Amino acid sequence: MPDASSPIQSATNAARQGDVVGVGSSAGKGWFYADAVKEHFFRPKNFMQDEAAYGDAAMGMVGSPACGDAMKIWIKVDPETERITDLKWKTFGCGSAIASTSMMSVMITEDGGKTLTEARKLRPQDIMERLGGLPARKVHCSVLGDKALRAAINDWYRKNNRHDQIQVEQGRIIDKVLKITDHDIEEAVLDGADTLEKVQQKCKVGTGDPSCIPEVEQLIRFYMEKFFGANSMGA
Ligand code: FES
Repeated sequence: MPDASSPIQSATNAARQGDVVGVGSSAGKGWFYADAVKEHFFRPKNFMQDEAAYGDAAMGMVGSPACGDAMKIWIKVDPETERITDLKWKTFGCGSAIASTSMMSVMITEDGGKTLTEARKLRPQDIMERLGGLPARKVHCSVLGDKALRAAINDWYRKNNRHDQIQVEQGRIIDKVLKITDHDIEEAVLDGADTLEKVQQKCKVGTGDPSCIPEVEQLIRFYMEKFFGANSMGA
């Protein structure tokens, strides 16, 4: 059993209670969450309980610009096959982050484990589909695990002197006047902005350099499809 007095366990318990109350009471007629989400929320798989035992494992950590929460992931990799044989995680994030990362940990390690290359191809959308969906405003929570996993994979390559395999996503400046990058637009979409006007309310992109607006609209479509699926376009 997890140590109930640990900060992460307290945070997990608080997150669970917060989501249960919030979902139940605001709906007035039951849950918004799919059964698979509730299963992974109440009984998270592969939750980190013994950090000391993973001292030499590859680790990735990210924070969410949208809400300030954080996620850590540890992976153990068979050096011969490059399959991820074990994945542990912990977070200060909410119930949706807990459920999606728990599901991701299962998808990464099932059937002998995905190779590092296969793991990089797993999309947040794949995890959401297996969970049966998440409320749109919770999608930014579901990418925390994915981003921390990518950081952990980079850390494994770094620890094994495979620097040529490290992938770092550089932000590309879209609005040259306000220095707004594609990552800023990605975060706005993850935070619920699905139109140019809503993205501009969050990051002002295009107000300094209107010539970039067609590219901004293209990026909004790209991120909407990436995180919410083709059916969400224009929703
Ligand atoms: S609100 Fe922060 S991870 Fe969900």
